[in-house]
Amino acid sequence: MRAHLPRVLSGRAFPLALAVLIAAATALALPSLADAADLAAMKERYRRPAEIPFPRYNPFSAEKADLGRVLFFDSRLSGSNQMACASCHQPARAWSDGRAKSLGDAGEALRRHTPTLLNLAWSGRFTWDGRADALEGVVLGPIQDPHEMNQPLDALVGKLTAVAGYRPLFEAAFPGQGITLDGIAQAVATFERTVVSGSAPFDRWIEGDEAAIGEAAKAGFVLFNTKANCAACHGGWNFTDGRFHDIGLATDDAGRGARDPDARMRFAFKTPTLRDVARRGPYMHTGGLATLAQVVDHYDSGFIARPSLDHEIRPLGLADQEKVNLVEFLAVLTGDPKPFSVPAIPQ
Ligand code: HEC
Ligand code: HEC
Repeated sequence: MRAHLPRVLSGRAFPLALAVLIAAATALALPSLADAADLAAMKERYRRPAEIPFPRYNPFSAEKADLGRVLFFDSRLSGSNQMACASCHQPARAWSDGRAKSLGDAGEALRRHTPTLLNLAWSGRFTWDGRADALEGVVLGPIQDPHEMNQPLDALVGKLTAVAGYRPLFEAAFPGQGITLDGIAQAVATFERTVVSGSAPFDRWIEGDEAAIGEAAKAGFVLFNTKANCAACHGGWNFTDGRFHDIGLATDDAGRGARDPDARMRFAFKTPTLRDVARRGPYMHTGGLATLAQVVDHYDSGFIARPSLDHEIRPLGLADQEKVNLVEFLAVLTGDPKPFSVPAIPQ
């Protein structure tokens, strides 16, 4: 059986039952024609996990998450007192900001597009080039970076200590420890782990509601897993392999290649989740692709062939209707906006 499958299906991550399903579906163009057992196996692979994983070195507590939420929205974490984490990572834009490149506290454009913070509890490497291996490590960085929030750390604890309303919040989260930089990093990271994409039409389809998504999106799902080869890097419920790839974008940013001597890591960046993707264009570390249709055109034939180009990227030869189906599929990965109330900032 395996020998007859397209190369994308023979990879480690595909259960055989799914491969059988997709082989059947490819022949007949729609996944609904697979038998019930195969469909169940496929749905298992895309089923959402029931719980958020928290690391042993920073276990969940509601007090830490509450403190972290407040800090995330507090612009006093920046040198000018004007910029919060949430200025760039906005809940309503799937925790990105709708700009190709954000402006830092000093008004200059940043080097890279703001990535979403969705589902980072399941990630092992952070930032586009993976330079941080813990979420706690990406809190004090943006605060003190002169290009981002421009707040010297030695003054930060004093600044927060002067706010009477912070004392009880830190005491509840870290009893007897006072206000510390470690506490700030742990609380913000704990809050970020609770930032999880909501249920999307795709999930309702996975759960068995055939009417949750249209026929074009279903056909797009089959393409995603077969001819278009997207699942080679974006497979599974969170639609990312957590790895680094050069997908052939025009860029002068070496990305992962600046820290990993492997020649294939030149121009390689972390695969983003595709959850809520319709809500957070423009796309890519460059912010250079404005729409999902442009993204699909990029993968179809728009990429730059160069030595570091990932071997899973190749001309796809998609018909116009297939491109439409893929975009329809990407759209059903976006759930209704989850209501999010900005916390009261302590005085
Ligand atoms: C001025 C805009 C801006 C602000 C303010 C900002 N960020 Fe970011 N954030 C970015 C950009 C741009 C990147 C990508 C950096 C890179 O890859 O080199 C990023 C990356 C991240 C990542 C990595 C995401 C991933 O997929 O690995 C995390 C986590 C993060 N930021 C958290 C925060 C926190 C916490 C704060 C507040 C303390 C904050 N950011 C403030 C723009 C911003
Ligand atoms: C070789 C692995 C790989 C394959 C195959 C692949 N992607 Fe990607 N995808 C990535 C990486 C890596 C990025 C980030 C690239 C960058 O910014 O430099 C990305 C970015 C994206 C983004 C932008 C997300 C964001 O938040 O900016 C979308 C949308 C996307 N891919 C969809 C697709 C679709 C649709 C397909 C199939 C046609 C596909 N990908 C195939 C690895 C892959």
